[in-house]
Amino acid sequence: MKHLILFTMLLSLSCALSAQTGERKNIRIATNHTDLILQVPDNGRLYQVYLGERLRHDTDLNHLDWQVHPASDGSVVPRGWEVYSGSGNEDFFEPALAVTHADGNPSTYLYYVSHHSKPVDGGTQTDIVLRDNRYPLEVTLHYVAYTEEDVIKTWSEISHDEKQPVYLSAYASTMLYFSAGSYYLTEFSSDWAKEAQMSTQPLRPGKKVLDTKLGSRAAMHMQPFFLLSIDQPADEQQGQVLMGTLGWTGNFRFTFEVDNVGNLRVIPAINPYASRYELKRGETFATPEFIFTLSRQGAGQGSRNLQAWARRYQLKDGREPRLTLLNNWENTGFNFNQDLLAGLMKEAKDLGVDMFLLDDGWFANKYPRQNDRAGLGDWEVNHAKLPGGITALTDAAREAGVKFGLWIEPEMVNPKSELFEQHPEWAIHYPNRETYYYRNQLVLDLSNPDVQDYVYSVVDRLLTENPGIAYFKWDCNSPITNIYSPYLKERQEQLYIDHVRGIYRVLQRLQAKYPHLPMMLCSGGGARCDYEALKYFTEFWCSDNTDPVERLYIQWGFSHFFPAKAMCAHVTSWNRAASVKFRTDVASMCKLGFDIGLQELSAEELEFCRQAVTNWKQLQPAIMDGTQYRLASPYNGNHMAVNYVSADRSMAVLFAYDIHPRYQEKLLPVKLQGLDPDKLYRVEEINLMPGTSSTLKAHGQTLSGDYLMKVGLEAFTFGNMQSRVVKLTAQ
Ligand code: GLA
Repeated sequence: MKHLILFTMLLSLSCALSAQTGERKNIRIATNHTDLILQVPDNGRLYQVYLGERLRHDTDLNHLDWQVHPASDGSVVPRGWEVYSGSGNEDFFEPALAVTHADGNPSTYLYYVSHHSKPVDGGTQTDIVLRDNRYPLEVTLHYVAYTEEDVIKTWSEISHDEKQPVYLSAYASTMLYFSAGSYYLTEFSSDWAKEAQMSTQPLRPGKKVLDTKLGSRAAMHMQPFFLLSIDQPADEQQGQVLMGTLGWTGNFRFTFEVDNVGNLRVIPAINPYASRYELKRGETFATPEFIFTLSRQGAGQGSRNLQAWARRYQLKDGREPRLTLLNNWENTGFNFNQDLLAGLMKEAKDLGVDMFLLDDGWFANKYPRQNDRAGLGDWEVNHAKLPGGITALTDAAREAGVKFGLWIEPEMVNPKSELFEQHPEWAIHYPNRETYYYRNQLVLDLSNPDVQDYVYSVVDRLLTENPGIAYFKWDCNSPITNIYSPYLKERQEQLYIDHVRGIYRVLQRLQAKYPHLPMMLCSGGGARCDYEALKYFTEFWCSDNTDPVERLYIQWGFSHFFPAKAMCAHVTSWNRAASVKFRTDVASMCKLGFDIGLQELSAEELEFCRQAVTNWKQLQPAIMDGTQYRLASPYNGNHMAVNYVSADRSMAVLFAYDIHPRYQEKLLPVKLQGLDPDKLYRVEEINLMPGTSSTLKAHGQTLSGDYLMKVGLEAFTFGNMQSRVVKLTAQ
């Protein structure tokens, strides 16, 4: 209490001083090309006064004004864009924070207390402390501005010193405001085998909400990222766009609200749906990170900002190389044995990939994992199928000369399992209703520390007993169904949030012990790919849909937010009407893998695949570590093209695809981007089927980067599902 009285006195004093001097304090969060400027005017609160292209003259900051709402009668209404607006104040639109205090009061007014900036890897971190003037409730806003990449990452922490718990019913990561003539929102809607599908719509007065309530497998219906374009619909190369994503592996909510005067607020947050959070005295509620970039050169530049940032600062081992692989899921399903797997490892070697990845179906004995109806939770090898255990498999891999990777789904349980028999209370399900099953399984209750220990120990034991395991594919095939935690008892509303935090705790422990173990994040395809999870995973599985035509759209969508290095793409037998070359060329745009029986391939096809693996490995400085330029969108026609350029611009590669071109349609040359205009590049079509030669006019020629970018290459054809991979080497 003493603390509160002292604080209130200090706050009143500082407000009084500011009022006397009319002082306006600006806090600048800046990257090379973006400024986010916050202001504390004489009322002592914190407002956004500018978000846009970086201002050239520091003195201009003095002219920025928080009072952005002149009323129609000309008077100035003392109401601005409060950065972290609390519920119950004079702002009548969606707040960032809603708190019910211990005495039942639902209002929060936050006042500036202090701020501090410090250099961090890649940029500057600014922390701003705010406090309520009537309650001992504190919010710290954190911003990291990544100078070179023009990316800002922001999150908040809420804590209090009230005697009883307070209840949080809104807890945004931040709030951003825009004032423009029109706004267009591009969302990335999803479903199984239909991930990251783009659609754009104008935002009108009122709210548009993008959210999910799936708990785990959280992005199955909507991805946790969006693209907002200002004054014109999103364009690849021009216009102002905000591209934002929330690092949260659970329910998220993006609210876009156009207010009475046509201003837009953007509120990224954990979805508060069924999640009123009890915050005890002394506890801190940390929101997830919201990561955004503001590009004035369209979505293409925005994506390049995010891709570069992710590889340098967020993605696990983002600067390290990736492993090519052969997986067995599409090939064998659950039907395999030790000999068959040993044979596949030799095939992996023959293909030239680095690793063999054993998928679902290798575990459980009392209820063997012969299909998806039993066994999840019992993570010991199935002795009937694999009598030599994992050791025999890692030995076989070593003999074949490849690494060994393993599929797990450790957050889940089938009711037909020994784990469920022993610990039914570890599964999320109602005590008093019929259980609803998604893929015949239930989600383990990771809000429970015992369950966290169990999941950690499953993975730790596998690695300790089998040091030959070089990689995990970590799956998550069910949303949270029957939302009830036997552990949380009367605090059920915390389950959605505490469950996700429990997953992070497990992943943090594993990362501490196995800091560089590569892992693929998978969730029934691409239903998990946020930037918090990707601190622990080197890559994610974009989709179970590996039909190359569908993949052109799916990979196009994900590429808006993720580098190719994080996106797994495998050559499979989906869409056999497409050639093996077309399938391989589509997968080669991302982290290349195969999931196909090599005996399905003709001798020429196998030879082609081997060559494609070799080519892909040579092109890693461009595809994995270079810069990506999206050139032709599949959404705009019957073709798709992207090119990648290595950091020193000495190597580039163009991928060009014809989907289903119309008869005699107009074929435009593909103009490359990002090359050195003054360098000469040797143009060479690669990934050719054995015995065929290139029909690309420029094949074998040496052309300047300037020519390639201004005149372009005639890379598209009239062919159905045709593709071209063109390598450019600086001379
Ligand atoms: C999910 C994954 C697939 C495969 C299966 C195994 O659907 O997305 O790649 O691993 O599980 O059951």
